[in-house]
Amino acid sequence: MEKWIPFIPERASTVAGRVDALYFFLVGVSVFFALLIAGLELYFAIRYRRRSPGEMPAPVRGSMKLEMLWVVIPFLISMVMFAWGSSLYFTIYRPPKDALDIYVVGKQWMWKLQHLDGKREINELHVPVGRKIKLTMTSEDVIHSFFVPAFRIKADVLPGRYTSVWFEATKPGRYHLFCAEYCGTSHSGMGGWVTVMEPADYEGWLSGGRAEGSLASTGEKLFQDLACVSCHRSDIQGRGPALKGLFNRPVRLEGGQTVIADEGYIRESILNPRAKLVAGFPPIMPTFQGQITEEQLLQLLTYIKSIGPEETPAAPPSPEAQAPSGGAGVTRKENVKQ
Ligand code: CUA
Repeated sequence: MEKWIPFIPERASTVAGRVDALYFFLVGVSVFFALLIAGLELYFAIRYRRRSPGEMPAPVRGSMKLEMLWVVIPFLISMVMFAWGSSLYFTIYRPPKDALDIYVVGKQWMWKLQHLDGKREINELHVPVGRKIKLTMTSEDVIHSFFVPAFRIKADVLPGRYTSVWFEATKPGRYHLFCAEYCGTSHSGMGGWVTVMEPADYEGWLSGGRAEGSLASTGEKLFQDLACVSCHRSDIQGRGPALKGLFNRPVRLEGGQTVIADEGYIRESILNPRAKLVAGFPPIMPTFQGQITEEQLLQLLTYIKSIGPEETPAAPPSPEAQAPSGGAGVTRKENVKQ
């Protein structure tokens, strides 16, 4: 199908067909009305042209029926666009629970990617075909935008917060990755390739080369090196709140409100601990702003995710998804030993 239409990038993700369908609908509606209006203008100009110098047209009194027609029809069409567009938007920007996590850090002018098992890449991303992939992204400097035309995904990557987007590639191949937000001198060169592999090849690729330990275990080491562990203890009540099972759970704050401990909350609590104080704990935690990199923050985040929530078996995970929670089991045992 895509072979017939020039200028359309290859379709290589589960949402690509849906994005194109909406796009063609929007273009179709616009072309239809543009032609209709231009055609009618031409027709009326000829049909109702002035035939004699003194000719006066009959006065128009207005018509309720006509008015209703040109209010109701565009309203219905725009509502279809709205409903269709938002359903697609929510599909693309709400990552499914069973997606494989990959972390992305943009900086002038490269993409740094980290896999859960610790493998890192620059301007290259390897993913298995037929597997949902969730990208959690942030920037070290200015706004970038992660854009893979063949997957029909594009999401801004902002400094100081996490954004996410997901995709499921449908066929093996190499697909262009672009930065789609002007970010300085070498913006145009800030690109790379996404390589989609058969699951077996992907496993081979993952196990090849040298990985410095999983993201969670690197994060755990960092957790000890930065002495987080001296206050956030898992066995007894420490000076800081216990972090086991914290991720995606509600947290009661000083002052009564409750927040969900998502990626954004954990990030903020590391960089600006006083922004949201947990009820019952004094404001003694120092800030780590400027002391750890975005990549280290993501490692800490992965570690904190890995030590909770305990009901992970509830969602039937695929073989790859079990790897991080298996690692978490080891982590828990180690914590008990301390
Ligand atoms: Cu990064 Cu443009």
